[in-house]
Amino acid sequence: MKKINKVGIIGVGDYVPDKVLTNFDLEKMVDTSDEWITTRTGIKQRRIAANNQPTSVLAINAAKKALKDANVGPEQIELIIVATITPDMHFPSTACIVQSALKANKAVCFDISAACAGFVYAMTVAEQFIRNGTYKNALIIGAEKLSSITDWKDRNTCILFGDGAGACVLAPVKTGGIISSYLETNGNLVDLLYMPGGGSRFPASIKTVNERMHFIKMRGNELFKIAVRCMTDAANKALKKCGLGCADVTYIIPHQANVRILWAVAKKLSMPQEKIFLNIQKFGNMSSASTAVALSEVVRTKKLKKGDILVLDAFGAGLVWGACVIEW
Ligand code: ACO
Repeated sequence: MKKINKVGIIGVGDYVPDKVLTNFDLEKMVDTSDEWITTRTGIKQRRIAANNQPTSVLAINAAKKALKDANVGPEQIELIIVATITPDMHFPSTACIVQSALKANKAVCFDISAACAGFVYAMTVAEQFIRNGTYKNALIIGAEKLSSITDWKDRNTCILFGDGAGACVLAPVKTGGIISSYLETNGNLVDLLYMPGGGSRFPASIKTVNERMHFIKMRGNELFKIAVRCMTDAANKALKKCGLGCADVTYIIPHQANVRILWAVAKKLSMPQEKIFLNIQKFGNMSSASTAVALSEVVRTKKLKKGDILVLDAFGAGLVWGACVIEW
């Protein structure tokens, strides 16, 4: 197998469902206010998928745009990875459903469960396969229908989440590409953010439904400080690995959990806030889809120049976190 030197992004796409749920809509559902949500999180609205739109539909829409942008036909794709914590079903993987819809018959397909860091994990895994010559290209997707596991009676969590999907096509490139990545995991803090019901530990039953175990449980306050520390550390370590520093970065493209987390990360990295790409005000926290949609938006709207440096930086349930440095 021929080893590949540089693997980069050759196409991007994103998709969010039409329905907008504003903070004012949430005021009618739980004891909250637009003022509280805006000042504590930075979120103004989020998108909510329709009943006939499972995660795969969001993923397929984003994937089609990424393939078009890359000018690659689905039949040419050799690997599909979907990062999601809201798969259509426990099995088969959502990636298999995406493959069938796209008619990407040649592709090897699987899902990655790494919560909000899922897209960074997927990018790192796909890059290895291309770099070592196993596959010629990959379609990676971060897609979530978090509204399906959100407790709409819990004001601590329901104000945070939204639905959407982002995708990109990775392939060998002549210049630039993914120049470093860094991943880390700490499984000792699983109970800070999880969904207890529906797995093999607590299979779905009337009891699990009555006890609202099929919804996200989160200790947000404790996560906040860890998120700041881990996202700062991941960005620093990924940059150091490729001999760069924060001053070299054009945009940090972070997971969008809370604008206050991102300002704290910016401060710790000594980076101006303008270099931190934000879309949380429009979409809330879309878990794995947040970084994927944000990357697609940056590529589509920011007129990137050759040599620009992007840092994907994410943190989520697991706990899992990581960063990828991409030279444009
Ligand atoms: N509206 C009004 N008041 C509220 C709301 C609400 N929606 N939610 C909570 N409050 C109240 C609380 O009850 C509390 O009241 P009390 O002081 O009377 O008890 C007060 O506001 C403060 O609550 P905190 O939880 O301390 O609020 P905080 O400032 O920490 O903000 C938040 C909460 C937004 C969740 C924040 O902690 C956060 O963003 N945490 C990080 C989340 C994260 O990074 N998750 C990981 C990635 S997500 C993933 O993997 C899916």
